[in-house]
Amino acid sequence: MKKTTLVNHPPDVSPPPGNVPVTAPIYQSVKFEFETIDDTLRMLRGDAPGYFYMRASNPTTRQLELTLAQLQGRDDCLATASGVNAIAQTLLSLTKQGDHVLFFIETYGPTRNIIRRLLARFGVENTMLSIEDLAGVENVLASRPTRLVFFESPTNPVTKVADIEKLVALAHRHGALAVVDNTFAGFHQHGEYDIDLFVHSLTKYASGTGDVMGGAVIGRRELIDDMRPDFAVLGAHLDPHAAFLIQRGLKTYFVRYTAQTANARKIAAFLEAHPAVSRCHYPGLEAHPQAALARKQMKEPGTVVSFDLRDGSEAARRFSEGLKLFALTASLGSTESLVMPPQLVGSRDFTPEQAKQSGVGPGTVRLSIGLEDVGDLIADVDSALG
Ligand SMILES: Cc1ncc(COP(=O)(O)O)c(C=O)c1O
Repeated sequence: MKKTTLVNHPPDVSPPPGNVPVTAPIYQSVKFEFETIDDTLRMLRGDAPGYFYMRASNPTTRQLELTLAQLQGRDDCLATASGVNAIAQTLLSLTKQGDHVLFFIETYGPTRNIIRRLLARFGVENTMLSIEDLAGVENVLASRPTRLVFFESPTNPVTKVADIEKLVALAHRHGALAVVDNTFAGFHQHGEYDIDLFVHSLTKYASGTGDVMGGAVIGRRELIDDMRPDFAVLGAHLDPHAAFLIQRGLKTYFVRYTAQTANARKIAAFLEAHPAVSRCHYPGLEAHPQAALARKQMKEPGTVVSFDLRDGSEAARRFSEGLKLFALTASLGSTESLVMPPQLVGSRDFTPEQAKQSGVGPGTVRLSIGLEDVGDLIADVDSALG
């Protein structure tokens, strides 16, 4: 073998049978081969296990998919390059021209754009209501066939809690699928409800460290199997290196979520009592309008705390810029605390009435609470409020 050949066919160093790595290796390979064409065809037909081309599947990404499916209490999962990609591919895969989608003002902005701009270009119609308008949901579902209802809980940024049991029952009674973006709640929550598909941004709590992006759709096997061919040709399969980092992040998911939630509870209580704050939005507070529903539905209220400053947007700007320990940026769920001022959380695509229903006011600030010492965080918030 010449050296030019050797570098393309390096020595095989697979561990011998019975000698296994404790942490699964990163299968950083686009291609997988069988010895024969018949074995390859058997695998491609689904008659035998295996891998062929990374755009369809890869063992490292597959390990993450199976872990996430079990965490969420479902059969299967498809992992994608980002959270919005999981949402976009799921919606594209489930809908066709003439279908109708019901979603909400309180839905994450890019998801609203996917439904209102992208899907609408392909003739998929939509209705947008407030997540609090259950009577409206019932009216819309009774008045026209609807392919799916897409919602979030708690919502972004003011943490409204959707009545999952009622929404899912209404969707199913009218033949619609219930699809939930469960990013805020995480993988250990809401699995007991009859939700058809969960979408997640893995960029948030799964990785936890804010240095890698990913997304996932999780559901029962038939639904995931129906979507799999579309996902393979849309071509945003999660890269194995990113999958490895997210799998590693999951090892500390539960301790992080619980510790960050404990910090969030204390910061919410501090904000609620502060004279500069007119209202604190946190599902773990007794004063939250849906506190009882949150207690019933959620094991933990999460790590996003939003609040309204009495003095409006300029005060919110000074507050956000005055924080030392909170990074002034998007995202949530990572170990470092983050702040989003009203100038960045507001939405430009709303009518004045919809903007009012969204619950975002001129002084609404969103905090994502991290793993820092809670005394340090409260001192920072106190000083910036001062
Ligand atoms: C609720 C929610 N869903 C989806 C996403 C999109 O995730 P990604 O940034 O991984 O595309 C985000 C991102 O902030 C989010 O907050």
